Amino acid sequence: MDISYAVQFEPKGIAEAFIIGEKFIDNETVALILGDNIFYGHGFLDPIRKIIDNPVDGATVFGYLVNDPERYGVVEFDTKLNVISIEEKPQNPKSNFVVTGLYFYDNEVINIAKSLKPSEREELEITDVNKAYLERNSLKVSFLGSGTAWLDTGTHDSLIEASTFVRTIEKRQGITIGSPEGVAYKNQWINSKQLQNIAEKYYFDNGYRHYLLDLIEK
Ligand code: G1P
Repeated sequence: MDISYAVQFEPKGIAEAFIIGEKFIDNETVALILGDNIFYGHGFLDPIRKIIDNPVDGATVFGYLVNDPERYGVVEFDTKLNVISIEEKPQNPKSNFVVTGLYFYDNEVINIAKSLKPSEREELEITDVNKAYLERNSLKVSFLGSGTAWLDTGTHDSLIEASTFVRTIEKRQGITIGSPEGVAYKNQWINSKQLQNIAEKYYFDNGYRHYLLDLIEK
């Protein structure tokens, strides 16, 4: 896997990613995930794989039920679950369903991002991108069930909450969440010999080398 980076030098909003990343997207569909969002849960990847295998026109975002909707992009539905509105950090949220930081778009997103005006907080808002798709009748909101944990680590409090969650699961099950090598091994993208070679590069053992070698044993 090759990973390359492009830098956003000033905090001008999430939607600027599609302008900075225009060449990278080329004429394809694109996924965006926010670095401070954590998704965890059994079956979480099933709907994601479907979208990746069969990219469709328009936008797909994920709705999640929370207690503090005013911190996020909030989705309002009618009784048939059609989306009526999306608002960024409203003082009086119209529902408790918010948009998570995982988005799938068709190639139009580049033009939409370029047409946006900065918001009051001087950012190109991802919510304005979603509103543009809503106006074109091509915004799909899928739901992440309560069996999936979605954590945003954008405040000190929420970072500690996420740390506690991850630590609890890791300790209880003896697993490491977010281990690229572990995931590659479990999916048989690398074999045990390759995993062993990688593990042995961690010569200062902070526990991670042990974890990787243990995966082979188990
Ligand atoms: C951003 C988006 C918001 C979304 C949230 C998810 O918020 O603007 O719509 O619900 O990510 O984490 P921000 O990181 O700008 O506070």
